[in-house]
Amino acid sequence: MSLFNLDREKCISCGQCVEICASNLLVMKDTEYPVMREGMEGRCLKCGHCEAICPGGAIDIEYEGAGAVPDVSGVKGEIGYEQFAKLAFSRRSLRNFKSRAIEREKLEKLFEIARYAPTGVNIQSESWIVINDREKVEKIVDAIIGWAKAVTENPPNEMMKGLCEHLIAAREAGKDPICRTAPCLIVAYDRVENTFAQINSVIALAQMDLAAQTLGLGTCWGGFVQIAASASPQVAKFIGIPEGFAPQYALMAGYPNIEFKRIPKRNTARVIWK
Ligand SMILES: Cc1cc2nc3c(=O)[nH]c(=O)nc-3n(C[C@H](O)[C@H](O)[C@H](O)COP(=O)(O)O)c2cc1C
Ligand code: SF4
Ligand code: SF4
Repeated sequence: MSLFNLDREKCISCGQCVEICASNLLVMKDTEYPVMREGMEGRCLKCGHCEAICPGGAIDIEYEGAGAVPDVSGVKGEIGYEQFAKLAFSRRSLRNFKSRAIEREKLEKLFEIARYAPTGVNIQSESWIVINDREKVEKIVDAIIGWAKAVTENPPNEMMKGLCEHLIAAREAGKDPICRTAPCLIVAYDRVENTFAQINSVIALAQMDLAAQTLGLGTCWGGFVQIAASASPQVAKFIGIPEGFAPQYALMAGYPNIEFKRIPKRNTARVIWK
């Protein structure tokens, strides 16, 4: 099997695959059927847009490691703006979670969403660590507090000193100022040298964040987890980030212990219309 495979029986010569290829790798041969231009295989992003646009299902892009997803083509129109807006407006950062872990099936559903998030040059290189156990999350919280204590001894600036002192005091008062009582911590990591690493991970997390709400879960972004794990190799190692990789961002999740009754105010969008 080659990279670009065509079932000529199914091809109706519409040329849509040629049009859609952002890397301009396809041409119509004798105006009849598409072929990949000579020597261009290495430039294929494997984005699958040609496959996805083909009306006859004539194209099969070879894809090692691909996993099947349900065929939901055409459902996009069924999700109205109102529905989506309701979801987006009502997502809140949750800081009061039930302690029970999240069912594995629900987490797997979130990773199905993550797989389909856009990535620069379709690299899909982000990997994940899931700590789905409140006791283990607490240990990470304490490791981060340990890092914060070390920072206060030799602070890079006054702001970090104040921040770390605040975290330590909150922890000593029996609170969880880092993971906010969440039973589940999802951490994205990627190779240190990948230029798109953080943006790809954050986009995937943002989509998982919204999807989590539809599964009855609440979430909170783990800013302090990210700060500590990027600054401290010990914290990164404790979380389980492998050698040669760096943490890219974290999201806490779990079942809500509280319910927001209203949508709070936000700034209006600052847009320059031209
Ligand atoms: C990048 C990022 C990092 C964040 N880090 C934390 C954090 O470490 N702890 C926390 O409690 N909330 C954190 N938040 C949540 C923000 O405080 C929250 O999104 C903001 O106050 C708006 O509230 P809302 O999410 O309920 O709309 C973070 C949010 C983002 C986007
Ligand atoms: S989109 Fe499909 S049917 Fe149209 S030219 Fe390409 S392969 Fe043929
Ligand atoms: S808006 Fe309310 S909840 Fe938010 S920080 Fe201010 S006082 Fe606290």
